[in-house]
Amino acid sequence: MDLTKKLFVVGVGPGSTKYLTDYSKEAIKNSNFIVGYNYTLSTIEHVIDKSIQKVFEITMKNQEEIYQHVFNDLMKDNDRCTVPFTGDVNFSESEVVDRLLDLFGDDNVEVIPGISSIQIASAKSRVPLDKATIITFHITGDIEEKKIELAKSVADGKSIILVPRPWPSNPSKNFMPSDISLFLRKNGIDTSKIDVWVFENLTNNEKETEYKGKMDSLENKDFSALSVMVIDQNIRQTYLEF
Ligand SMILES: C[S@@+](CC[C@H](N)C(=O)[O-])C[C@H]1O[C@@H](n2cnc3c(N)ncnc32)[C@H](O)[C@@H]1O
Repeated sequence: MDLTKKLFVVGVGPGSTKYLTDYSKEAIKNSNFIVGYNYTLSTIEHVIDKSIQKVFEITMKNQEEIYQHVFNDLMKDNDRCTVPFTGDVNFSESEVVDRLLDLFGDDNVEVIPGISSIQIASAKSRVPLDKATIITFHITGDIEEKKIELAKSVADGKSIILVPRPWPSNPSKNFMPSDISLFLRKNGIDTSKIDVWVFENLTNNEKETEYKGKMDSLENKDFSALSVMVIDQNIRQTYLEF
């Protein structure tokens, strides 16, 4: 018999329950513990049965303490825990996922992908993922190299689908659409010629917004922390051309 503590790290989609897969729902229902952030927990609350799953809401500050408490003090052999992530667990979540792989051990973790906010932005802007550079700035680590990669990709005429960096407690660390536009202009890009999209609150019927314009129009514009930006330099090319 397999006597281990099992972990599911699951993507639950960008917010709408319609993008929550049956695989992720199954993992949640088969778990004894659910540990997640507020926004993510709200996406799956209709799947959780609190008489079966013990739920812990975490923040960036207390997450380590709670992961350890659940793993060391509460879980028994054969118990299962789910840690849900917004969108796809394989995009812009590795700072946490890598820690959980360390804690539980790779062999005891199942990773279940989800639909990413990046995919929804790709669908709406018609910029295919395979023709775009995908960048996340939503990390706590240093982003200077990523900024250089961004400037290079734009200068090379590539499209970019990116997640900005909101940092409410320290706005000097923000790298939001306005900062991105200014950064690119300062790096010699003619931002008045480049098409951009900013999508806020994707898949949320009431709150979703879509902005399309030239990059320079983003300077000094505020967008929600929940936004995806697309720099659209896409050239359409069909099979008829080959
Ligand atoms: C830590 S990253 C996680 C990305 C997530 N794993 C994904 O695949 O969408 C968090 C950022 O993703 C973006 N994001 C997630 N859900 C979103 C949504 N519904 N609408 C717009 N942006 C979203 C926002 O930029 C947010 O700050």
